[in-house]
Amino acid sequence: MNTNKIKHIGVFTSGGDSPGMNSALYAIAKTAEATGIKVSGFRKGYEGLIDGDLVQFKSHELQKLTQKGGTILKTARSKRFLELEGRKKALQTLNANKIDALIAIGGDGTFKGLLTFSEICDIPFIGIPGTIDNDISGTDYTLGFDSAVNTAIENIDKIRDTAESHNRVFVIELMGRDSGYIAIHSGLVVGADAILIPESGRDFIYLLNKVKSYDSEDAFLIMVSEGDEIGAELLASKINEVNSSVDLRITRLGHVQRGGNPSALDRMLGIRFGVAAVEQLLNGNKNKMVGLLNNELYLTPFEEVVKQHQVNDELQKLLELFGK
Ligand code: F6P
Repeated sequence: MNTNKIKHIGVFTSGGDSPGMNSALYAIAKTAEATGIKVSGFRKGYEGLIDGDLVQFKSHELQKLTQKGGTILKTARSKRFLELEGRKKALQTLNANKIDALIAIGGDGTFKGLLTFSEICDIPFIGIPGTIDNDISGTDYTLGFDSAVNTAIENIDKIRDTAESHNRVFVIELMGRDSGYIAIHSGLVVGADAILIPESGRDFIYLLNKVKSYDSEDAFLIMVSEGDEIGAELLASKINEVNSSVDLRITRLGHVQRGGNPSALDRMLGIRFGVAAVEQLLNGNKNKMVGLLNNELYLTPFEEVVKQHQVNDELQKLLELFGK
């Protein structure tokens, strides 16, 4: 029997989709059902909150969708929610549907949105970190990061085959917004020749020196995080300036990194985060994000999680050790 005052939880996915979101939705539904709580899903992130676009879902409907990438609730980057007018409409939707608590799955923009929303809405919110970028404080891993890295390395391995056949230099741009996590993880495990990430602040001159003496007798793979200040195009032209014999191609892996079946780790993370989110609401917690630190569940206030989680010193030292 549920004696808690929370009888109806609303949930939505927001910002960029990430593999593992469906797992989290499944776990939320399963945990809520076990405690007699109703769950409604808002479609298209904050847009669904504003428009009252909600669907009921049951765990048995989601059980077989944990293997699917993307988000069955759909997602959006809502401009209307940035305006007070939009947030007031969202509040009306919550009241009209008697929603007692809200779970949001998304990135830092999503949690910033909830912080602002809490100024006019006092129902409890719990966040689940869902973004491929792994750029959120309060968790070692965000939902989708591991899958994105696996997708990236699968594709980079393919690029290596053609790069080796032609003895070409490839500049491969990886997603991550201002974070170099996807680039450094992918680059180290594919044996890249250079990895440029925003956090390292390393001058790319070291890379140009390497390319200067490159003899075109093998592949040469360079990973560039999209947030790195040089950018793929400028880097490519600098390389051509120092070594005009280089046969160079640029590949942007792009949104391929966001799709695909979630890895085992992301499916499991989704389940742990989903269960924890409902439990924390029932424990009376609010305005916090569930995360995993040293493989243990942690709660971090939204004010803290919006500070960027940067590639740490231990990983950055690896760049030097591996000559990147
Ligand atoms: O935050 C996830 C992410 O994929 C970033 O890595 C990337 O910069 C951005 O979203 C792309 O956003 P959109 O899908 O809106 O173009």
